[in-house]
Amino acid sequence: MKHLLAAADLSPAEIASILDLAEEMHAVQSRQVKKLPTLRGRTVVNLFFEDSTRTRGSFELAEKWMSADAVNMSGKGSSVSKGESLRDTVLTLDAMGVDAFVIRHSGSGAVHQAAGWVRPNVSVVNAGDGAHEHPTQALLDAFAMRRHFRRHSTESWEDKTIAIVGDLTHSRVVRSNVSLLQTLGAQVILVAPPTLMPAGVSTWGVEIAPDFDAVLPRADVVMMLRVQRERMAGGFFPSAREYTVGYGLTRDRLERLKPGAAICHPGPMNRGVEISSDAADSVNSLVLDQVSAGVAVRMSVLYHLLGGEGQA
Ligand code: CP
Repeated sequence: MKHLLAAADLSPAEIASILDLAEEMHAVQSRQVKKLPTLRGRTVVNLFFEDSTRTRGSFELAEKWMSADAVNMSGKGSSVSKGESLRDTVLTLDAMGVDAFVIRHSGSGAVHQAAGWVRPNVSVVNAGDGAHEHPTQALLDAFAMRRHFRRHSTESWEDKTIAIVGDLTHSRVVRSNVSLLQTLGAQVILVAPPTLMPAGVSTWGVEIAPDFDAVLPRADVVMMLRVQRERMAGGFFPSAREYTVGYGLTRDRLERLKPGAAICHPGPMNRGVEISSDAADSVNSLVLDQVSAGVAVRMSVLYHLLGGEGQA
């Protein structure tokens, strides 16, 4: 594995390898001393042109706990604010001799472009590009779901139905999750108002359901996605209240979920809009498990890119 740009690039064997190593990395998180020598001498630049709490924080922790040198850059505070382009920024940092870039950018496809600009021995990880892809989010979601399945039923993905609900048009999380879940063999149902269903979704090979209530008793996991008001130029729904009535995981809907069904949300959450506090804080909520999984999965991804045989 040279880069991680899209979930669809991962084979079933690569996904299994990343998730299995992440289990070992997860054990490191509960130790008093978390430092591993695994990536000593390697340098990773975290280049975030969009805000982030979970992705940025967990990549930085993953790098530090594996003894890599981490450099953090954002648009504000770098020469990007003086007009320097993404290409010149990447070429400049690449020329310093770094080993990997972790990039978040508002432009769909920007991270793929960056992968074409770096030297041949440098890796690029997509930490979220526009409404396109967020592959490490899908991997950490799969990690948290797999742990839930192991506790409650069977580990098999083939007999699981995952409902992904909400603002799908503006979501990179849905695109990465659909790819990864299809590779794993799970059934995916997409639930959204027609205005928030992505263009071309009928070609994705998933079930499309406009009625959330009909899906509730069928889903083994309900993944609620954030209403991304910052990416909405027009009126995609009449009001936040109308949206909640049709598509929010309210207390009433929580009671109608399949017994043992897990609740996921990649965060940040709009409590009271797409998810109620009853659901977010319920016993089957994986929200904080997903956050915790983020560090372990990103440690595993960085190890697969930088720490494997022949890489150092
Ligand atoms: N889920 C996610 O990508 O969260 P952040 O924007 O906080 O990184």
